[in-house]
Amino acid sequence: MKFTHWSMNLLYGAVLTLISAASLPAIAEDELPTATQDFQNYCAQCHGAEGRGDGPMAAELQTAPSDLTRIAARNDGVFSSEDVYYTIEGLDMSVSHVAGDMPVWGFWFMGQAVGEGILLEDAEPAEDRVRDRIEALVDYLETLQE
Ligand code: HEC
Repeated sequence: MKFTHWSMNLLYGAVLTLISAASLPAIAEDELPTATQDFQNYCAQCHGAEGRGDGPMAAELQTAPSDLTRIAARNDGVFSSEDVYYTIEGLDMSVSHVAGDMPVWGFWFMGQAVGEGILLEDAEPAEDRVRDRIEALVDYLETLQE
């Protein structure tokens, strides 16, 4: 899947991230982690190593982390890459969702993509990297569906 539209949200995210996380080291294009690595690093603590919603942090959350092997099953057998993408990006979630237990990965990955750069011209390639990374995670989640 490939999203081609320019997301102003992510650009705002870049700016916010620069303010809040300016000291993150940037990850170069060729050093991007694989989706499996990203999942184990950033998702498994809540969703579990196999995505079943049973990670070590799950018990401490107010909202139980979703069983990610059953996204399609919960949706009449349909895995909507677009819906899942925006859930992970998180930038268009309702306020309650953002304030909830599911982190907003768009901001975080954007922080890693821009690193200490402060030029707006860095933001567009950074946004591409964030999108590639989230898309890879979505494709990975699709392989987990039961
Ligand atoms: C701090 C805990 C936590 C981490 C870390 C986390 N999540 Fe979540 N996630 C949640 C919670 C809690 C929900 C349920 C939110 C709700 O129902 O309101 C959720 C829901 C989701 C959903 C929606 C599932 C559905 O059926 O609609 C997806 C997709 C998802 N997470 C993917 C990820 C990915 C990918 C990562 C890693 C990049 C990740 N999550 C990291 C806590 C977490």
